[in-house]
Amino acid sequence: MASSEDASSRLALSNIEEIGPATEKRLKEAGFRSIRDLLVRGPVDIAEATGMETGESVEICNKARLMLEELGIIDKSFVTATSLYSRRRERISTGSKSFDDLLGGGLETKAVTEVYGEFGTGKTQLCHTLCVIVQQNKLAGGLDARALYIDTENTFRPERIVSIAEGRGFDPRRSLENVIVAKAYNSAHQELIIEEAGPVIEDNNIRLIIVDSAVAHYRAEFLGRATLSERQQRLNKFMHILVRIAETYEVAVLVTNQIQASPDAYFGDTVRATGGNVVAHTSTYRIHLKRSGKNRIARMVDSPYHAEREILFTLTERGISDANEGR
Ligand code: GTP
Ligand code: MG
Repeated sequence: MASSEDASSRLALSNIEEIGPATEKRLKEAGFRSIRDLLVRGPVDIAEATGMETGESVEICNKARLMLEELGIIDKSFVTATSLYSRRRERISTGSKSFDDLLGGGLETKAVTEVYGEFGTGKTQLCHTLCVIVQQNKLAGGLDARALYIDTENTFRPERIVSIAEGRGFDPRRSLENVIVAKAYNSAHQELIIEEAGPVIEDNNIRLIIVDSAVAHYRAEFLGRATLSERQQRLNKFMHILVRIAETYEVAVLVTNQIQASPDAYFGDTVRATGGNVVAHTSTYRIHLKRSGKNRIARMVDSPYHAEREILFTLTERGISDANEGR
C-alpha cells in the first residue's frame, strides 16, 4: 500500500540529519530500524549502540519525538485537554461484555494494562482470548491485527488458541497463524526481545503485545534483599520500554503478574503484586483477579478515571466469558 510505504519512508532513520551512513549501520546492527525505535529505546541505548556522546543522542531522540508528533503518532508536548479527551482510543474485546465494561470498552491501545492475581485466576486465559479476538474485525471486537505473545513461564498453549477460536466460530488455522510467540528464557532475553520488537511489530501488523508473566524471571533470578535494587532497576527499564512501545507503535500491552500471600495483613489487603511498585506505577491500568466459587472477579484498581468496581466473569472452553454463559 502506498500510504504505509510513505509512512515507513518518513520514519527512516536517515531522515535525521545527525544520522550518517556509518551511524545508521551501527543502529541497525543494534536492532534500531525506524525513528520509533529511537524513541522507544532512548538516548542511553542510542549512545551505547553508536559510541556517540549522550548529548548528541539526546538531540537525536528529541528530533525523533518531534517527527512522531508531526506525524500525529504521539501527543505533542503541550496539548489542550480537549484534544486529549477526543484522542482516538482503540479497544480489543476481552470476550466478556462485563469485563469490557470494566475496562471502558475493552483493552486499550497506547496503554499498558497489568493483570494480577493468584495462580489459576485466569491471567493466562485472558492473554489467549485477547490473542484470538484482536484478529477479528471491529464488529467482532478486534482490530484486524496480529498478536505478539512473550511467554516467560512456558504456559502459551497453541491448543487453547484453537479451542477458543473454534468456540467462537473463528477459523482456528488462521488464528494460530496470527499469533507470534517469543519464548523468553531469562530476564536478559526478555529484555532483548522487547528491545528488538519494533521491526516485528511493524512488519506483522501487531496491535497487541502480551507479556505473561512480566516478573517471573526477575523474581527467580534476583533473590534476597541484596539484589532487590538491581531487580527493580531492570524491571523498571523493561516496563518503561513497554510504555513507549505502546505509545509509539499504537499497540495494546497486557502484562501479567502473580501475587504472593503477604505475611503482614496490616494494610488490609493480604495479597500484594510482586515486582513491588515498579509494575504498578508504570502500568496505565491495573486489574486484580480473584476467585469467587466457580467464577472469577475482576476489580479495577487505582485507575485515574475508572470507578473502582468489580465485575464477575467465568473461564470456559471459549476463554474469558460472561458469568451467565458459564457451563
Ligand atoms: P498462574 O499462571 O499459575 O499464576 O495462573 P493464571 O492466572 O495464569 O491461570 P490460568 O489463566 O492458566 O487459569 C487456569 C484456569 O482456567 C483453570 O484452573 C481452569 O479453571 C480454567 N481453564 C483453562 N482452560 C479451560 C478450558 O478449556 N475450559 C474451561 N472451562 N476452563 C478452563
Ligand atoms: Mg498463567
